[in-house]
Amino acid sequence: GTKKEAAKSDAPKADKKIVLGFSQVGAESEWRTANTESIKAAAKEAGIELKFSDAQQKQENQIKAIRSFIQQKVDVIAFSPVVETGWDDVLKEAKAAKIPVILTDRAIKMSSGNAEDYYVTFMGSDFVEEGKRAAKWLVDYMKKDNEPVNVVELQGTVGSAPAIDRKKGFEEVLKDHPNYKIIKSQTGDFTRAKGKEVMEAFLKSAQAEGQKIDVLFAHNDDMAIGAIQAIEEAGLKPGKDIVIVSIDGVKGAFEAMIAGKLNCTVECSPLLGPQLMEAAKDLMTGKQLPKRILTKEGVFPAEVAAKELPNRKY
Ligand code: AHR
Repeated sequence: GTKKEAAKSDAPKADKKIVLGFSQVGAESEWRTANTESIKAAAKEAGIELKFSDAQQKQENQIKAIRSFIQQKVDVIAFSPVVETGWDDVLKEAKAAKIPVILTDRAIKMSSGNAEDYYVTFMGSDFVEEGKRAAKWLVDYMKKDNEPVNVVELQGTVGSAPAIDRKKGFEEVLKDHPNYKIIKSQTGDFTRAKGKEVMEAFLKSAQAEGQKIDVLFAHNDDMAIGAIQAIEEAGLKPGKDIVIVSIDGVKGAFEAMIAGKLNCTVECSPLLGPQLMEAAKDLMTGKQLPKRILTKEGVFPAEVAAKELPNRKY
Protein backbone atom coordinates (compact mmCIF):
# COMPACT_ATOMS: atom_id res chain seq x y z
CA GLY A 1 0.00 0.00 0.00
CA THR A 2 1.71 3.11 1.29
CA LYS A 3 5.16 2.24 -0.04
CA LYS A 4 3.86 1.89 -3.57
CA GLU A 5 1.95 5.16 -3.39
CA ALA A 6 4.97 6.99 -2.10
CA ALA A 7 7.02 5.62 -4.98
CA LYS A 8 4.38 6.78 -7.39
CA SER A 9 4.26 10.37 -6.17
CA ASP A 10 8.03 10.56 -6.03
CA ALA A 11 8.34 9.63 -9.68
CA PRO A 12 10.01 12.42 -11.66
CA LYS A 13 7.60 14.62 -13.57
CA ALA A 14 9.22 13.84 -16.90
CA ASP A 15 8.11 10.18 -16.74
CA LYS A 16 4.45 11.04 -16.76
CA LYS A 17 2.69 11.52 -20.06
CA ILE A 18 2.52 15.22 -20.84
CA VAL A 19 -0.94 16.51 -21.71
CA LEU A 20 -0.92 19.35 -24.24
CA GLY A 21 -4.03 21.32 -25.16
CA PHE A 22 -3.74 22.92 -28.60
CA SER A 23 -6.24 25.39 -30.01
CA GLN A 24 -5.88 25.68 -33.78
CA VAL A 25 -7.16 28.60 -35.88
CA GLY A 26 -9.08 26.43 -38.35
CA ALA A 27 -8.50 24.69 -41.67
CA GLU A 28 -8.58 27.79 -43.87
CA SER A 29 -5.52 27.06 -46.01
CA GLU A 30 -3.10 24.42 -47.27
CA TRP A 31 -0.64 25.93 -44.81
CA ARG A 32 -2.96 25.43 -41.87
CA THR A 33 -3.68 21.81 -42.80
CA ALA A 34 0.04 21.11 -42.96
CA ASN A 35 0.49 22.84 -39.59
CA THR A 36 -2.20 20.67 -37.99
CA GLU A 37 -0.67 17.50 -39.45
CA SER A 38 2.77 18.50 -38.20
CA ILE A 39 1.47 19.05 -34.67
CA LYS A 40 -0.51 15.81 -34.56
CA ALA A 41 2.33 13.72 -35.96
CA ALA A 42 4.93 15.28 -33.66
CA ALA A 43 2.76 14.72 -30.56
CA LYS A 44 2.41 11.04 -31.43
CA GLU A 45 6.12 10.73 -32.07
CA ALA A 46 6.97 12.45 -28.78
CA GLY A 47 4.49 10.39 -26.74
CA ILE A 48 2.58 13.53 -25.75
CA GLU A 49 -1.17 13.36 -25.23
CA LEU A 50 -2.65 16.00 -27.51
CA LYS A 51 -6.04 17.56 -26.95
CA PHE A 52 -6.68 19.23 -30.29
CA SER A 53 -9.42 21.77 -30.92
CA ASP A 54 -10.30 23.49 -34.24
CA ALA A 55 -11.77 27.00 -33.82
CA GLN A 56 -13.06 27.39 -37.38
CA GLN A 57 -11.43 30.84 -37.56
CA LYS A 58 -13.50 32.17 -34.65
CA GLN A 59 -11.86 33.75 -31.62
CA GLU A 60 -14.78 32.86 -29.33
CA ASN A 61 -14.17 29.17 -30.12
CA GLN A 62 -10.49 29.51 -29.27
CA ILE A 63 -11.31 31.18 -25.95
CA LYS A 64 -13.78 28.38 -25.15
CA ALA A 65 -11.17 25.74 -26.00
CA ILE A 66 -8.52 27.39 -23.81
CA ARG A 67 -10.98 27.64 -20.91
CA SER A 68 -11.79 23.96 -21.28
CA PHE A 69 -8.05 23.11 -21.26
CA ILE A 70 -7.71 25.07 -18.02
CA GLN A 71 -10.64 23.18 -16.51
CA GLN A 72 -9.13 19.86 -17.56
CA LYS A 73 -5.84 20.93 -15.92
CA VAL A 74 -3.68 20.11 -18.94
CA ASP A 75 0.09 20.47 -18.42
CA VAL A 76 0.66 22.95 -21.25
CA ILE A 77 -1.62 25.08 -23.42
CA ALA A 78 -0.55 26.08 -26.91
CA PHE A 79 -2.47 28.09 -29.44
CA SER A 80 -2.18 29.97 -32.69
CA PRO A 81 -4.22 33.13 -32.06
CA VAL A 82 -6.61 33.90 -34.92
CA VAL A 83 -6.37 37.66 -34.19
CA GLU A 84 -3.88 39.70 -32.14
CA THR A 85 -6.12 41.24 -29.50
CA GLY A 86 -8.82 40.13 -27.06
CA TRP A 87 -6.88 37.50 -25.11
CA ASP A 88 -6.43 39.39 -21.81
CA ASP A 89 -9.04 37.58 -19.73
CA VAL A 90 -8.39 34.03 -20.81
CA LEU A 91 -4.60 34.40 -20.54
CA LYS A 92 -4.98 35.79 -17.04
CA GLU A 93 -7.06 32.73 -16.19
CA ALA A 94 -4.35 30.40 -17.52
CA LYS A 95 -1.73 32.27 -15.54
CA ALA A 96 -3.83 32.07 -12.35
CA ALA A 97 -4.16 28.31 -12.93
CA LYS A 98 -0.34 28.14 -13.34
CA ILE A 99 -0.58 26.48 -16.75
CA PRO A 100 2.19 27.60 -19.11
CA VAL A 101 1.07 28.95 -22.50
CA ILE A 102 3.02 28.62 -25.74
CA LEU A 103 2.16 30.77 -28.76
CA THR A 104 2.66 29.11 -32.11
CA ASP A 105 2.71 30.86 -35.48
CA ARG A 106 0.94 34.11 -34.51
CA ALA A 107 1.61 36.80 -31.91
CA ILE A 108 -0.74 38.65 -29.54
CA LYS A 109 -1.12 42.13 -28.08
CA MET A 110 -2.55 42.72 -24.60
CA SER A 111 -4.74 45.75 -23.97
CA SER A 112 -2.99 46.27 -20.65
CA GLY A 113 0.26 44.91 -19.29
CA ASN A 114 3.08 43.13 -21.06
CA ALA A 115 2.06 40.29 -23.43
CA GLU A 116 5.35 38.51 -22.70
CA ASP A 117 4.25 37.95 -19.10
CA TYR A 118 1.46 35.70 -20.34
CA TYR A 119 3.33 33.20 -22.48
CA VAL A 120 6.54 31.25 -22.06
CA THR A 121 7.61 31.31 -25.69
CA PHE A 122 6.43 32.36 -29.13
CA MET A 123 7.55 30.16 -32.01
CA GLY A 124 6.97 31.01 -35.64
CA SER A 125 7.86 33.22 -38.58
CA ASP A 126 8.77 36.87 -38.87
CA PHE A 127 5.78 38.09 -40.88
CA VAL A 128 7.12 41.62 -41.38
CA GLU A 129 10.21 40.10 -42.95
CA GLU A 130 8.03 37.95 -45.24
CA GLY A 131 6.21 41.06 -46.48
CA LYS A 132 9.57 42.76 -47.10
CA ARG A 133 10.87 39.74 -48.99
CA ALA A 134 7.81 39.74 -51.24
CA ALA A 135 8.27 43.44 -52.08
CA LYS A 136 12.04 43.13 -52.58
CA TRP A 137 11.55 40.23 -54.96
CA LEU A 138 8.87 42.22 -56.83
CA VAL A 139 10.93 45.38 -57.30
CA ASP A 140 13.86 43.29 -58.50
CA TYR A 141 11.72 41.31 -60.91
CA MET A 142 9.76 44.21 -62.40
CA LYS A 143 12.83 46.38 -63.05
CA LYS A 144 10.62 49.45 -63.25
CA ASP A 145 11.99 52.51 -61.56
CA ASN A 146 9.91 55.27 -63.08
CA GLU A 147 6.81 53.90 -64.78
CA PRO A 148 3.80 53.53 -62.53
CA VAL A 149 3.12 50.00 -61.25
CA ASN A 150 -0.41 49.30 -60.01
CA VAL A 151 -0.57 46.72 -57.24
CA VAL A 152 -3.65 45.06 -55.74
CA GLU A 153 -3.40 43.37 -52.37
CA LEU A 154 -5.34 40.44 -50.94
CA GLN A 155 -4.99 40.70 -47.18
CA GLY A 156 -5.25 37.86 -44.71
CA THR A 157 -7.74 37.68 -41.85
CA VAL A 158 -8.55 41.15 -40.48
CA GLY A 159 -6.73 41.75 -37.20
CA SER A 160 -4.43 38.72 -37.54
CA ALA A 161 -0.69 39.11 -36.99
CA PRO A 162 0.28 37.82 -40.46
CA ALA A 163 -2.13 40.21 -42.23
CA ILE A 164 -0.98 43.24 -40.22
CA ASP A 165 2.72 42.44 -40.42
CA ARG A 166 2.94 41.31 -44.04
CA LYS A 167 1.19 44.48 -45.16
CA LYS A 168 3.55 46.54 -43.04
CA GLY A 169 6.70 44.88 -44.36
CA PHE A 170 5.56 45.08 -47.96
CA GLU A 171 4.67 48.78 -47.70
CA GLU A 172 7.92 49.58 -45.92
CA VAL A 173 9.97 48.41 -48.89
CA LEU A 174 7.67 50.05 -51.44
CA LYS A 175 8.05 53.40 -49.66
CA ASP A 176 11.40 53.72 -51.41
CA HIS A 177 9.75 52.98 -54.76
CA PRO A 178 7.01 55.61 -55.08
CA ASN A 179 6.12 54.51 -58.61
CA TYR A 180 4.53 51.43 -57.03
CA LYS A 181 1.01 52.12 -55.87
CA ILE A 182 -1.37 49.82 -53.99
CA ILE A 183 -4.58 50.74 -55.78
CA LYS A 184 -6.85 48.21 -54.05
CA SER A 185 -6.51 46.27 -50.83
CA GLN A 186 -9.06 44.00 -49.18
CA THR A 187 -9.23 40.92 -47.04
CA GLY A 188 -9.68 37.47 -48.57
CA ASP A 189 -9.53 35.83 -45.13
CA PHE A 190 -6.67 33.51 -46.21
CA THR A 191 -9.04 31.27 -48.22
CA ARG A 192 -9.16 30.32 -51.91
CA ALA A 193 -12.88 31.04 -52.22
CA LYS A 194 -12.59 34.58 -50.82
CA GLY A 195 -9.39 35.20 -52.75
CA LYS A 196 -11.26 34.44 -55.95
CA GLU A 197 -14.29 36.49 -54.98
CA VAL A 198 -12.31 39.60 -54.03
CA MET A 199 -10.06 39.37 -57.10
CA GLU A 200 -13.19 39.27 -59.27
CA ALA A 201 -14.35 42.49 -57.63
CA PHE A 202 -10.89 44.07 -58.08
CA LEU A 203 -10.89 43.23 -61.80
CA LYS A 204 -14.38 44.58 -62.31
CA SER A 205 -13.83 47.88 -60.54
CA ALA A 206 -10.40 48.37 -62.16
CA GLN A 207 -12.04 47.94 -65.53
CA ALA A 208 -14.85 50.34 -64.65
CA GLU A 209 -12.29 52.91 -63.49
CA GLY A 210 -10.06 52.36 -66.51
CA GLN A 211 -7.12 51.18 -64.39
CA LYS A 212 -4.67 48.45 -65.26
CA ILE A 213 -3.69 45.94 -62.57
CA ASP A 214 0.00 45.08 -62.98
CA VAL A 215 0.66 43.11 -59.81
CA LEU A 216 -1.15 41.02 -57.23
CA PHE A 217 0.34 40.65 -53.76
CA ALA A 218 -1.56 37.97 -51.83
CA HIS A 219 -0.87 37.43 -48.13
CA ASN A 220 -1.02 33.67 -48.71
CA ASP A 221 -0.77 31.17 -51.56
CA ASP A 222 -4.36 29.98 -51.23
CA MET A 223 -5.78 33.44 -51.95
CA ALA A 224 -3.37 33.75 -54.90
CA ILE A 225 -4.58 30.40 -56.25
CA GLY A 226 -8.21 31.55 -55.94
CA ALA A 227 -7.32 34.85 -57.63
CA ILE A 228 -5.60 33.00 -60.49
CA GLN A 229 -8.96 31.43 -61.33
CA ALA A 230 -10.66 34.82 -61.32
CA ILE A 231 -7.95 36.29 -63.57
CA GLU A 232 -8.30 33.42 -66.05
CA GLU A 233 -12.08 33.71 -66.05
CA ALA A 234 -11.66 37.40 -66.89
CA GLY A 235 -9.68 36.34 -69.99
CA LEU A 236 -6.28 37.42 -68.67
CA LYS A 237 -3.06 35.44 -68.14
CA PRO A 238 -2.03 35.16 -64.48
CA GLY A 239 1.74 35.32 -64.10
CA LYS A 240 2.05 37.30 -67.34
CA ASP A 241 -0.64 39.99 -67.65
CA ILE A 242 -0.63 40.24 -63.87
CA VAL A 243 2.53 39.41 -61.93
CA ILE A 244 1.68 37.48 -58.76
CA VAL A 245 3.66 37.10 -55.54
CA SER A 246 2.30 35.35 -52.46
CA ILE A 247 3.44 33.85 -49.18
CA ASP A 248 3.70 30.33 -47.65
CA GLY A 249 5.40 28.07 -50.20
CA VAL A 250 2.79 25.30 -50.21
CA LYS A 251 2.87 22.63 -52.92
CA GLY A 252 -0.10 24.24 -54.69
CA ALA A 253 2.02 27.38 -55.17
CA PHE A 254 4.90 25.39 -56.68
CA GLU A 255 2.47 23.71 -59.07
CA ALA A 256 1.04 27.10 -60.07
CA MET A 257 4.58 28.41 -60.65
CA ILE A 258 5.46 25.41 -62.82
CA ALA A 259 2.29 26.11 -64.83
CA GLY A 260 3.51 29.71 -65.29
CA LYS A 261 0.61 31.23 -63.36
CA LEU A 262 2.37 32.38 -60.19
CA ASN A 263 5.68 34.25 -60.17
CA CYS A 264 7.03 33.87 -56.67
CA THR A 265 6.24 32.46 -53.23
CA VAL A 266 7.89 33.61 -50.02
CA GLU A 267 8.31 30.75 -47.61
CA CYS A 268 6.46 30.54 -44.30
CA SER A 269 6.96 27.15 -42.69
CA PRO A 270 4.00 25.45 -40.98
CA LEU A 271 6.15 22.58 -39.70
CA LEU A 272 6.15 23.72 -36.08
CA GLY A 273 5.11 20.39 -34.50
CA PRO A 274 8.52 18.99 -33.50
CA GLN A 275 9.62 22.32 -31.98
CA LEU A 276 6.38 22.59 -30.05
CA MET A 277 6.74 19.11 -28.54
CA GLU A 278 10.35 19.82 -27.62
CA ALA A 279 9.29 23.02 -25.90
CA ALA A 280 6.53 21.22 -23.97
CA LYS A 281 9.03 18.62 -22.77
CA ASP A 282 11.56 21.28 -21.82
CA LEU A 283 8.92 23.06 -19.78
CA MET A 284 8.09 19.89 -17.86
CA THR A 285 11.72 19.34 -16.97
CA GLY A 286 12.06 22.92 -15.80
CA LYS A 287 14.19 24.19 -18.65
CA GLN A 288 14.10 27.88 -19.48
CA LEU A 289 12.81 28.60 -22.99
CA PRO A 290 13.81 31.55 -25.17
CA LYS A 291 10.92 34.04 -25.48
CA ARG A 292 11.15 33.91 -29.26
CA ILE A 293 11.89 30.88 -31.45
CA LEU A 294 12.21 32.10 -35.03
CA THR A 295 11.56 29.92 -38.11
CA LYS A 296 14.15 29.97 -40.91
CA GLU A 297 12.70 30.57 -44.37
CA GLY A 298 13.54 31.29 -48.01
CA VAL A 299 12.13 32.87 -51.18
CA PHE A 300 11.21 30.73 -54.22
CA PRO A 301 10.75 32.38 -57.63
CA ALA A 302 9.13 30.43 -60.52
CA GLU A 303 12.52 29.59 -62.13
CA VAL A 304 13.39 27.21 -59.31
CA ALA A 305 9.90 25.72 -58.81
CA ALA A 306 10.35 22.51 -60.82
CA LYS A 307 13.66 21.74 -59.14
CA GLU A 308 12.33 22.52 -55.64
CA LEU A 309 8.91 20.85 -55.75
CA PRO A 310 10.21 17.33 -54.96
CA ASN A 311 11.91 18.70 -51.82
CA ARG A 312 8.82 20.39 -50.46
CA LYS A 313 7.45 18.86 -47.26
CA TYR A 314 4.12 20.71 -47.24
O1 AHR B 1 -0.44 32.45 -39.73
C1 AHR B 1 0.05 31.91 -40.90
C2 AHR B 1 -0.91 32.11 -42.02
O2 AHR B 1 -2.15 31.51 -41.71
C3 AHR B 1 -0.52 31.49 -43.34
O3 AHR B 1 0.26 32.30 -44.14
C4 AHR B 1 -1.86 31.30 -43.95
O4 AHR B 1 -1.85 30.51 -45.11
C5 AHR B 1 -2.56 30.71 -42.81
O5 AHR B 1 -3.90 30.60 -42.97
